[in-house]
Amino acid sequence: MSQFKQRVFSGVQPTGNLHLGNYLGAITRFVELQNQYECLYCVVDLHAITVPQKPDELRSNIREVTAAFLAAGIDPSQHIIFNQSQVPEHAELAWVFNCVSRLGWLNRMTQFKEKAGKDRENASIGLYTYPNLMAADILIYKATHVPVGEDQKQHIELARDIAQKFNKDYAETIGMSGFGEAFFPLPEPLIQGPATRVMSLRDGSKKMSKSDPSDYSRISLTDTAEVIAQKIKKAKTDAEPLPSSIDGLVGRTEADNLVGVFAALSETTKEKVLEEFNGANFSTFKSALVDLTVDKISPIGAEMRKLQQDPQHIDAILRDGAERARLIARDVMKSVKEIVGFIQ
Ligand code: AMP
Ligand code: TRP
Repeated sequence: MSQFKQRVFSGVQPTGNLHLGNYLGAITRFVELQNQYECLYCVVDLHAITVPQKPDELRSNIREVTAAFLAAGIDPSQHIIFNQSQVPEHAELAWVFNCVSRLGWLNRMTQFKEKAGKDRENASIGLYTYPNLMAADILIYKATHVPVGEDQKQHIELARDIAQKFNKDYAETIGMSGFGEAFFPLPEPLIQGPATRVMSLRDGSKKMSKSDPSDYSRISLTDTAEVIAQKIKKAKTDAEPLPSSIDGLVGRTEADNLVGVFAALSETTKEKVLEEFNGANFSTFKSALVDLTVDKISPIGAEMRKLQQDPQHIDAILRDGAERARLIARDVMKSVKEIVGFIQ
């Protein structure tokens, strides 16, 4: 692996309702990694259209995710923020990967099964091959590290399988063209911290999701302080006071979830949160959680709203990011074409 420059890539879909799970599981990690790595953060609009989107809403959701990146503290002058469709090499490499990836591999993807639901015959082909495009997103930059929430782990593993198979299938031309033993790195998922899987506030067995029909299941980044307070006060819990250690959270998914959210927002661990709230009832804990959430999320929501009032500024950042991303992507795609045997 050491032959590869360390580089971070991650993507967020512009599908509306950006929520606390996206923020704690992904976006805050993106911000932290900026000090250590060269980072590319992508608004994956090609992924969004795997399910139907209204064009005007899609455009506005692309700007919303970009605004969230900026408001959370990602610096577009030091790193790259862009939208996927402005770098055509993503789709180009995805085609090559469609021919490397195997039906058997995609058939195991749990996210497809969940999203396609019972009416699988009617799901788009894009929804099915979505993980191949995701592998292309990462590997078109030869990214080595991919910060994501727990739900994306299987997709990153697939990206590793694709990278490995490409390296093996084309080992001979890779060697002959002077790329050494492997052309693509095997990207590593970075799934860290106390909130890699934030659960629905209404049902501790389901993850917090943009598409949950109940708005009370999630805290959106643009929710007002009053709405945040209402949602947390109504969040499902059990009747017991908080335990003294994390062992006591076993089998108490709702309590576990809220303690995890508290820990992530206060940048500490669940153990430390329980040291403080050992024996407290939920009304006390929820009041503290409301204050903390409002304190951390409201300024981000306010900044997002402000940024979204100037769409031209956002679009200029995306264009600039795409140009810089393309410099890397073009180069990698050119090598892929040479390795595969295309004339150019
Ligand atoms: P998506 O909205 O599906 O594009 O997800 C964007 C990022 O947020 C991905 O890294 C996801 O793994 C992460 N994510 C989405 N939902 C959650 C959740 N409930 N808890 C933690 N991370 C999440
Ligand atoms: N599939 C990811 C999600 O739904 C989004 C995504 C697309 C992504 N391409 C990516 C994440 C590449 C990491 C790396 O959350």
